[in-house]
Amino acid sequence: MSNLTRITPLRKIASRPLPAGGRSLRIQGLSPATYWSVLLSEFRTVADVGEIPDGEGRSYAVNGRMVAVFRVGEEYHAISDACPHMGASLGAGAVEGHAVSCPWHCWRFDVRNGAWLDAPNSKVKCDSFEVRIADDEIQVCVPDPLPRSTAGPPH
Ligand code: FES
Repeated sequence: MSNLTRITPLRKIASRPLPAGGRSLRIQGLSPATYWSVLLSEFRTVADVGEIPDGEGRSYAVNGRMVAVFRVGEEYHAISDACPHMGASLGAGAVEGHAVSCPWHCWRFDVRNGAWLDAPNSKVKCDSFEVRIADDEIQVCVPDPLPRSTAGPPH
């Protein structure tokens, strides 16, 4: 990796606001390792605007994970592609409003936050990811995998 490609993410990081609630990372409910993993992640382009038809999803590999990106009108949402039941691709599921139905056994998930709509009080859910549009590109932010060490950044 060249120095140039390393400089850009650091500049983006420097422009991000500090977490609300003070300096302590623990106030955010995240371990320092998790916090830095999220902070150091970048948005990755998955498609151009218009490539995903309204009311459909597509699956993409982003930062080592499969992510399902859905278009609902002019909104785009991203959740983990693998259904938490048996791993079917949710990106191939039928979309109705903000709900996607798994193509195998029809469990339904909210594309906005990954919640399991058939059992809202369940802990079962899909991960959800930030999506943004930049220069007519659909970009998704998938946090880097957690580092093996649980040691956080220097305080
Ligand atoms: S694999 Fe998705 S509901 Fe069974």
